[in-house]
Amino acid sequence: MNKKTVRDVDVKGKRVLVRVDFNVPLADGVVTDDTRIREALPTIRYLLEQGATVILASHLGRPKNRVVDSLRMDPVARHLSRLLDYPVTKLDDCVGPEVEAAVRAARPGDLLLLENTRFHAEEEANDPAFAAQLASLADLFVNDAFGSAHRAHASTEGVAHYLPAVAGFLMEKELTYLGRALTSPERPFVAILGGAKISDKIGVITNLLSRVDRLLIGGGMANTFLKAEGYEVGDSLVEDASLAEARALREQAGDRLLLPVDVVIADRFDADAFSQVVAVGRVPAGWRILDIGPRTLELFQERLAGARTVFWNGPMGVFEFPKFAQGTDALARMLAALPGATTIIGGGDSVAAVQRTGLAEKMSHISTGGGASLEFLEGKTLPGVAVLLDK
Ligand code: 3PG
Repeated sequence: MNKKTVRDVDVKGKRVLVRVDFNVPLADGVVTDDTRIREALPTIRYLLEQGATVILASHLGRPKNRVVDSLRMDPVARHLSRLLDYPVTKLDDCVGPEVEAAVRAARPGDLLLLENTRFHAEEEANDPAFAAQLASLADLFVNDAFGSAHRAHASTEGVAHYLPAVAGFLMEKELTYLGRALTSPERPFVAILGGAKISDKIGVITNLLSRVDRLLIGGGMANTFLKAEGYEVGDSLVEDASLAEARALREQAGDRLLLPVDVVIADRFDADAFSQVVAVGRVPAGWRILDIGPRTLELFQERLAGARTVFWNGPMGVFEFPKFAQGTDALARMLAALPGATTIIGGGDSVAAVQRTGLAEKMSHISTGGGASLEFLEGKTLPGVAVLLDK
């Protein structure tokens, strides 16, 4: 990674504004998946140990530029304090005189969490005056919010125009794993893509195709490829507008691309639907593909044998319905059992898919970025990374 990190700067006695991605799921005011918070702990602990005053900033949800009480950061502050076993001072805004006074009064070793940055319209507008106000709270900016690095917002990008800006440890880890997969993967390099829509992933497929040795495709997006090849897919989810692109990608990929050869179909979109396994092309009218089949899994296993780098994004089927989770679960088990391979799980649904099998610990890296990891693998420049100081 060619960006400076917290290790490259002196933070002792400094006020450090740390952008974290604490956009975590909440239910009844309780954090239900704290992965993103836990992943940010090494940076927070390091800065506190080095004698910095740490001011954390994050968005939470999409409050659409106004204060939404259910999206306040208080539950996150409580959760963070429990995880660290350390006091966290939660402020009720992210800019303004009260925040400035609290920051002025803070001492080295103090940990503050600002209120949801998206309560201000200026955040998503990347308003320079707002970014300057945020920057005025600190001497240094640390971006550890890989999950938000594809957003050019005031707290992810704008603020770095006013302060020296470096990466945190989570940002460094994400860029190292994903960057290596793109630039110098140990081969064979196998990518597995799933999820509902091909249109979301055309950029990723295109960029990965020039880099991978094998590309395995499952999930709803495979249906569009299958239809493009002339297979009957019944009532399956298909993006007709992407058929031509699917055909072109198929041609470009040649033998490196493997599509399902059999599928689990359902008579309706329901957890209790009737299901059966059929060869592709044998989907009756009115039925829909909801998972990959056992023969496909065997072929995936063969193509994964000997892989040294594997990137996986997107479930193989509708894994929210246990009956149609077998392809996704089996794939997670295959990856967990691969000897000596670097296994990288792209964010979003794929993380949930791996976590439900209890195999998360067996993967080399689980990205905390959904959209961010996809944009990175598309080869796009992430604004929240571009703005950090080069080594
Ligand atoms: C995410 O959850 O992907 C990030 O926190 C970014 O959130 P956003 O899609 O609302 O910008």
